[in-house]
Amino acid sequence: MDASALTIDRQDAAPLYWQIYERFRDAFRSGSLRPGDHVPSSRSLASELGVARGTVEEAYALLSAEGYLMRDGRRGSIISTQLSNLPILAPDKDKVTDEAKKETRTARPGRWDNRPRKPSPFQLGLPALDVFPRKLWSRLTARQARMVGESDMTYPDMCGYWPLRDAIAQYLALSRGIHCAPDNIIITGGYQGALDLAIHTILNPGDKVWLEDPGYFRAQLAIQNSTAQAVPIGVDTDGLRVQDGVDLAPDARLAIVTPSHHSPTCVAMSLPRRMALLSWASENDSWIIEDDYDGEFHYSGKKLPALKSLDAQGRVLYAGSFSKTLYPSLRLGYLVAPDEVLDRLEQAVQFHAAGVATLQQAVTAQFMIEGHFTRHLKRMRTLYARRRTVLAAALSKTFPDMLDIHLEGGGMNIIAGLPGHLSDVELVARAAKHGVAIQALSENALVDRGHNALVFGFTNTPEEDAEALCLKLKKQLA
Ligand SMILES: Cc1ncc(COP(=O)(O)O)c(C=O)c1O
Repeated sequence: MDASALTIDRQDAAPLYWQIYERFRDAFRSGSLRPGDHVPSSRSLASELGVARGTVEEAYALLSAEGYLMRDGRRGSIISTQLSNLPILAPDKDKVTDEAKKETRTARPGRWDNRPRKPSPFQLGLPALDVFPRKLWSRLTARQARMVGESDMTYPDMCGYWPLRDAIAQYLALSRGIHCAPDNIIITGGYQGALDLAIHTILNPGDKVWLEDPGYFRAQLAIQNSTAQAVPIGVDTDGLRVQDGVDLAPDARLAIVTPSHHSPTCVAMSLPRRMALLSWASENDSWIIEDDYDGEFHYSGKKLPALKSLDAQGRVLYAGSFSKTLYPSLRLGYLVAPDEVLDRLEQAVQFHAAGVATLQQAVTAQFMIEGHFTRHLKRMRTLYARRRTVLAAALSKTFPDMLDIHLEGGGMNIIAGLPGHLSDVELVARAAKHGVAIQALSENALVDRGHNALVFGFTNTPEEDAEALCLKLKKQLA
């Protein structure tokens, strides 16, 4: 490996050994380091980077412990030859045939490294972790933990802790226009758990599923890794192009949508499209999964009620998540099931889901019952509106001729269009080298639709940091 290509950033809060470790790991993942390649000695790399030799040794020790490096006798260390069969290796460019290139892409290849790490600037999907009411949360957790009795320690109701289901039913009626009984709510391991449960219950092998394209890569992956058939459907300024779905696959069994704010463009699905989608589902006995992950975060005008609130025929399985309203590692979500499918879902829960820890559910329930949840959401809405305005202004000021920013009514991302001579994928790869996790809109699409835009998360970016982060990004992209 050419050590001079490896850079570290002394302004970055991440320790130097960690940065070195990450650079090697990324080089391996991107295919620029391959099994059997030699890595520089710790002495030569330390002198190249101007860091202590111990720092490089610490990074190498971590890479060895994780199996990335192995000793090659007295010749030093090499990238482990045991890694040659791992799917994270980038495909050999020369071996990708034109035919394969034309096929629908697998959703976001190589994104399954989920090891916890420090949030990166502009990272998508993170709520404002810096202002989460931790003290209150710990107090409630301690109180709930003290109340755990023997009966709470046996196997719980696999459909979820009753007081939480009850609190969610009340919240949905007030806040999302959904009227349902707590019995219709199944608590899941985040949206991911809800999606998994729903698709295993309602889909048969070969069933077609409309997917928003571009869309949420985990929904794309869930369908691509099931026995169902993904049908990517384009999205425009009114949301999912329902008529395209009807033309392409009228007999689809399911549509998975993000109507409040489309992921990742934040476009809200218009009322005519919502009605068209509901009519298609009821005429065909098809299902809709409504992923309402960020429906609370609307900044201009009134919050839109959920699609489920219009679902007179009971075709919508509504999925909610606490990942954005509280925090993602809580791993709490829920599914609101229409009566017709409830029995099947309850049965599937018994063998398909593992349940969710009761203590976390109890703390969340208490947070809701005492009114903290509604207050927290209100504060976050105001904060996010400010953070979004400030970051959008800082981006426009820093990249006046490069980024075309148009803000939608809500959501948690800023979409910045690029001129044709710049590629979103290339810019994102450049930013990633510096640990900045912006995304390329084109990479969220399963088929090439000519998108070319950067996607920024703004909710976890404090206003006072926005301008400095943009200036730093400008240097990183240069
Ligand atoms: C489109 C979309 N839906 C749902 C979620 C929430 O998923 P989970 O509850 O599994 O964390 C996310 C999180 O990033 C998302 O982007």
